Amino acid sequence: MNSQRKEIGVGVVGFGTVGTGTVRLLLENAEHLRKRVGIPIRLVRVADLDLSRDRGIRLPEGVLVSDGMQVAGDPAVQIVVELVGGTGAAKDYLLAAVKNGKSVVTANKALLAECGPEILKAVVSAGVDIGFEASVGGGIPIIRTLREGLAANRIRAIFGIINGTCNYILSRMTREGRPFADVLEEAQKTGLAEADPSFDVDGIDTAHKLAILVWLATGGHVPLKEIFVEGIREIAPQDIAFAKEFGYTIKLLAIAKEKGTGIEVRVHPTMIPSHYLLATVDGANNAVYVKGDFVGSSLSVGQGAGMLPTASAVVSDVIEIARNLRKGSSGRIPPSGFFLSDPAARIEVAPFHQVSCEYYLRIHVVDRPGVLSRIAGVLGHHQISISSVLQKGRGESAVPIFIVTHRAKESDMRSALAEVDRLPDVLDRTRMIRIENNL
Ligand code: HSE
Repeated sequence: MNSQRKEIGVGVVGFGTVGTGTVRLLLENAEHLRKRVGIPIRLVRVADLDLSRDRGIRLPEGVLVSDGMQVAGDPAVQIVVELVGGTGAAKDYLLAAVKNGKSVVTANKALLAECGPEILKAVVSAGVDIGFEASVGGGIPIIRTLREGLAANRIRAIFGIINGTCNYILSRMTREGRPFADVLEEAQKTGLAEADPSFDVDGIDTAHKLAILVWLATGGHVPLKEIFVEGIREIAPQDIAFAKEFGYTIKLLAIAKEKGTGIEVRVHPTMIPSHYLLATVDGANNAVYVKGDFVGSSLSVGQGAGMLPTASAVVSDVIEIARNLRKGSSGRIPPSGFFLSDPAARIEVAPFHQVSCEYYLRIHVVDRPGVLSRIAGVLGHHQISISSVLQKGRGESAVPIFIVTHRAKESDMRSALAEVDRLPDVLDRTRMIRIENNL
């Protein structure tokens, strides 16, 4: 039976960048949203600790308040949009709203990745909806794509470029041949990278988002500590130059692959052939490549962050939930997209040491006869076969040797590198980048 609602009240907690974009969208496109939903969506409350900053928006009198709990408890609000971020106060607001019978929308990937089971249990037992389209891929509708568009498929693999900061830095390093630190510093000056960039450049943000994608693909949670994560700080111009010369592009990839022993879930810099569409996704853009058993491959590309694209994703959730509320059908699509899965279920993660791929190695050696054969000997002893070798420079005291291997096991590669780095000819820790040739 249809409910007799005349409008849907929305409250936004967090009036920062995404909050500002969301409020702008709700106000500027109000008539468009009314047509989409059938009844008006009214911005009832906005909460932020900072009541004085000029965000370039005139809010109706009385809408702006300083306490998020006021939004979570407001009887005129049916949908609470949490845009505070982090896992502290944001969680309190969200859970309070759910407890008060309100549906919630969040862009908070850290909260979902770290406290997913607890939040989902609360949402399910309260019989409300939760939307989190903005948590992965910014403006790209990848959550809905996995939960609905590709719902018929068993997902075999996901390869994602899901951190705009890293993709921006790697793209500029590739284009300009400049070192990581230089490009990062410039990105920080222009506001494209955070003052503390570790969450982004160390791969943590990517791991949070990957955990959400895996949950949507399988219905099971992956504990963050089980995801292998390596960031991009150690990528050097030499690695980029080699990659270019050999037809590869380096991207920070979020990878999930079905394996006999579970699901491989990992985040690390990866060389992929430059002719792959994924390799052409440049700058702050994001992309998610999904392989399903019936659909085959599909690639979604777009702006992975930013005020307006992220607001687009947030409000898409508001629209979906408002439509549900109007028709009295909350919970029609479960948060994970799976009705028959325990909200706290975990997936079996394949042990990382069993992953196998091809590897690129950069070994810093003294240029003297026999070095290469000693290195090749160690690799061979660990069942690692060499596919190509390149030495740049000659006669200098130290030169890099670049090696690409055939497919090898992670555990063998780690043991081999520990031994290689102990050779007297090797001057520095060997750098290794994994190669994915088979997307
Ligand atoms: N910090 C993220 C990125 C954007 O660089 O992609 C928000 O998810």
